[in-house]
Amino acid sequence: MSDVMMDDPLRPSGLAQGQQQILGRPLDRIDGPAKVAGAAIYAFEHAPDRVAVAAIVGTPVGAGRIIRIDTRAAEAIHGVVAVITDDPRMPAGQANSRAMPAFQTDTIFHYGQPVAIVVAETQAIANEAARLVHVEVEAAPGRFDPRAQPVEAKPGIGFLPPIEIGDVDSAMADAAVTLDATYTTPVHFPAALEPHATTAWWDGDAVTLRISNQVIGAARNTIAQALKVDKDKVRVLAPYVGGGFGGKTGVGAEAILAAIAAQHVGRPVKIALPRRQTAYMVHHRSDTVQRIRIGCDAAGHIAAMAHESVVAQNDQGQFLEPVPFGTLPLYAGKARRFTTGLVRVDLPETGAVRAPGEAVGTFAVECGMDEMAERLGLNPLAFRRLNEPTVDPTSGKPFSTRRMLDCYDEGARRFGWPDVLPDPASVRDGEWLVGIGMAAALRGNFTVKAEARVHVTPDGRAMVECDMTDIGTGTYTVLAQVAGEMLGLPIGRVDVRLGDTDLPPSAGSGGSFGAGSAGSAVALACEDILAELARRMNASPEELRLKDGCVMAGGRQVPLADLLRGEPLTGYGKTGPGKESQRTSQASHGVHFCEVAVNAVTGEVRVRRMLGVFDIGRVLNAKTARSQLIGGMAWGIAYALSEDAVVDTRTGTFVNPDFGEYHVAVSADIPALEAHFIEEIDDSANPVGAKGVGELGISGAGAAVVNAIYNATGVRVRAMPVTLDKLL
Ligand code: MOS
Repeated sequence: MSDVMMDDPLRPSGLAQGQQQILGRPLDRIDGPAKVAGAAIYAFEHAPDRVAVAAIVGTPVGAGRIIRIDTRAAEAIHGVVAVITDDPRMPAGQANSRAMPAFQTDTIFHYGQPVAIVVAETQAIANEAARLVHVEVEAAPGRFDPRAQPVEAKPGIGFLPPIEIGDVDSAMADAAVTLDATYTTPVHFPAALEPHATTAWWDGDAVTLRISNQVIGAARNTIAQALKVDKDKVRVLAPYVGGGFGGKTGVGAEAILAAIAAQHVGRPVKIALPRRQTAYMVHHRSDTVQRIRIGCDAAGHIAAMAHESVVAQNDQGQFLEPVPFGTLPLYAGKARRFTTGLVRVDLPETGAVRAPGEAVGTFAVECGMDEMAERLGLNPLAFRRLNEPTVDPTSGKPFSTRRMLDCYDEGARRFGWPDVLPDPASVRDGEWLVGIGMAAALRGNFTVKAEARVHVTPDGRAMVECDMTDIGTGTYTVLAQVAGEMLGLPIGRVDVRLGDTDLPPSAGSGGSFGAGSAGSAVALACEDILAELARRMNASPEELRLKDGCVMAGGRQVPLADLLRGEPLTGYGKTGPGKESQRTSQASHGVHFCEVAVNAVTGEVRVRRMLGVFDIGRVLNAKTARSQLIGGMAWGIAYALSEDAVVDTRTGTFVNPDFGEYHVAVSADIPALEAHFIEEIDDSANPVGAKGVGELGISGAGAAVVNAIYNATGVRVRAMPVTLDKLL
């Protein structure tokens, strides 16, 4: 087994052979035809025999106490199989580590907290019966307004402790030019298109869950713990997932409730959360308040950089939006302060949503940089170039690879970024005010533990297996490309099995670590196979060449099938973070340039064009990588202009918990987007040399839009989203 950690020679020999034939090419998704033909079955579509359908009943208030739950009217409906309000496995007081709905407590932790499951023959019957379950409560005042709560400066949850280097206050006092500005972002929903859903069934004491989830290995552990069964008795399947955006990183109550209900009724049970319930039973991104302070000398060199934020969490949640995380390595400056304060609220849990930290943190710091450039009389691009660090300015570590300056140069050239910006509100096109803006993008790079198994079979095919997910990102295709490249097999001869916890434990999809981590495990599994083939050829792995089903070494060429001697050959690969990820500062980088038009009469904002250039290490598939980046840019436009989950601070409810009123961008909002790469293989990142792509595109994207709006209108909006009322 190849167990290559980061301090070993890194790049697998199969990827060291110069020009790649398969890896990196813009191949179509190999799972695409199954998806468009409806042959790809999603969690709620799975239909085991006698499957029953369930609906969940939530609390009707946001704080207080449950007095009694009356299920008689619901139970009287024809077609109702069971109404469950009690299960001994659901521990009191842990209501909200989302997987553990609290049927054993009468305390209401937040609005919509699950208190009953209705199981019925059809969805319509389940919904109607759920409506008839009467939850009698004694309401109490709750902490529903995050801005009205005291701030804990050192919360002790989350992974990013406060950082203070030098003396920001005195550096600010000594600076020739300063900025001290506060920016805010609202609550964001993850907003995956496929509903959060589970179909569960038992076979004796073993349970299988067909679930829409990003990280099924971790899900299996959580489910086993919640159900109080051994984890070997839990199998989680997720071969297709229709988007996650962080909301499907953990296990939702619907998965546990489906399993519990299936056991109660002795039949398979499936649950899909309706959109409005998703807002309460799936985590959301906290709103943020972010104070940015920047102090410079007269020439524009940053001396002080402070990014101090406040975010919300409820009493059960352990996650803290790491708002300043992306700012840590972004710009030079000796005095530095980065903090994340906490307010406790009685709202649903906050959690990881689409580039947690950077997505909203870059909004504040990149708008702050724009404001600061104007105060200095510098082009915002020149101001950033001037403060490009040579080592990580916070940790002092060397960068693994950092091509930010190249991104700036290529982006500016492609976009036509001028040396001198037009004055704010000076360019008009009929009734439209036109402006341009830019922002840097940065997303920390992570490699996580991942294992994979690859078989080559005598018929000249390869099979890749791991419990990775493909959440619409291209995992099937990318892993097939890695194996195809390593083994010299065309993509049509590589099969990929994912989304089953019976397969080797892999990275899962989250934190932009999926492709690099799982891809590396696949590469190392292939390396394992190459080592055996080399042995059979009496050659070293380095001199081995594989192409079109043939193995070449030392002037000999042997069909792969002959070397296999009629037996399949299996390789196993395993990777994870190692010494290089400790020694170096790792991130993906990029820059966004944007042109907007703002209607001078109505305040309507249209993004006219947007272009990004990104440093992402090795490109594994130019098409799926581009799709990830323009998808992120589209999210950035949405959070700049429309995404805004409004908390009703009187009741602890969301005013707009559905797609009718929580506005994600639609095609009509998005112009043609361009994403280009600066490719440099990052051998410190992982064996395949790829850095994260998934969340990079959203980082900085919103700020570029808001900066362009300022240039168009002369109105500086510091509270996202920039709705038209803020511009008039
Ligand atoms: Mo991501 S927000 O880690 O899926």
